[in-house]
Amino acid sequence: MNNAEKIKEYLNDEMLDALAQNGRPFQELMMRYNCAMLEIKTKLDVLNNEFSLENDRNPFEAINCRIKTPQSIVNKMKRKGIEITVENIEKNLNDVAGIRVICSFIDDIYTLCEKLCLQDDITVVEIKDYITKPKPNGYRSLHLILEIPIFLSKEKKPMRVEVQFRTIAMDFWASLEHKLKYKKNIGNAEEISAELKQCAEDINILDMKMQKIHNKIFNLS
Ligand code: GTP
Ligand code: MG
Repeated sequence: MNNAEKIKEYLNDEMLDALAQNGRPFQELMMRYNCAMLEIKTKLDVLNNEFSLENDRNPFEAINCRIKTPQSIVNKMKRKGIEITVENIEKNLNDVAGIRVICSFIDDIYTLCEKLCLQDDITVVEIKDYITKPKPNGYRSLHLILEIPIFLSKEKKPMRVEVQFRTIAMDFWASLEHKLKYKKNIGNAEEISAELKQCAEDINILDMKMQKIHNKIFNLS
């Protein structure tokens, strides 16, 4: 089976003919996103190493990387009403490469974000601060769209990566809320949404209390 056939079989969707016939360029694009994701992950790992040595603790608890599946790329392009071509994917989607950084404390999120954004090979395309300004459903996280150059054998290409920062508690909340979004036929969805929103407020209070206690323990202002 050649690459085009493999992609076509995996995708099993007639809208994907364009991509399947462009198997090689599509794979190359995914490879570039993967490299960009590795570059940003390494930067975060470096900051983690340095911070750990200085402060004797890690600024983040976990880091998860993912490349969007071809099927969800297609679904999103369809939702946006954009013709599915390799060029259009790169032009229109900012979250093909995604990194989620889970921190214990809110202050660490802003410290890491600042240190990352100030690096001179990074271009900050967008910052959405859903911690200071949560979504109406209660969702909190700090979202960045970053552009980073990757160096291939014949060229240098800037690529976009989405980085989401959240606390452990915010992550716990987002996982449960995500289940509500994708579960069909829930009778009491409104009631559950209201309960979740209340939980998001409780979590925020908890995150702030934990930050204060941490600051007291380490004599931080
Ligand atoms: P998308 O088209 O979904 O990418 O929206 P957007 O481009 O306006 O980006 P936004 O920054 O709002 O959200 C991007 C990602 O954040 C989503 O793909 C989810 O992973 C996460 N996210 C955003 N809002 C919510 C939410 O209300 N609940 C949960 N669980 N996750 C969310
Ligand atoms: Mg997005």
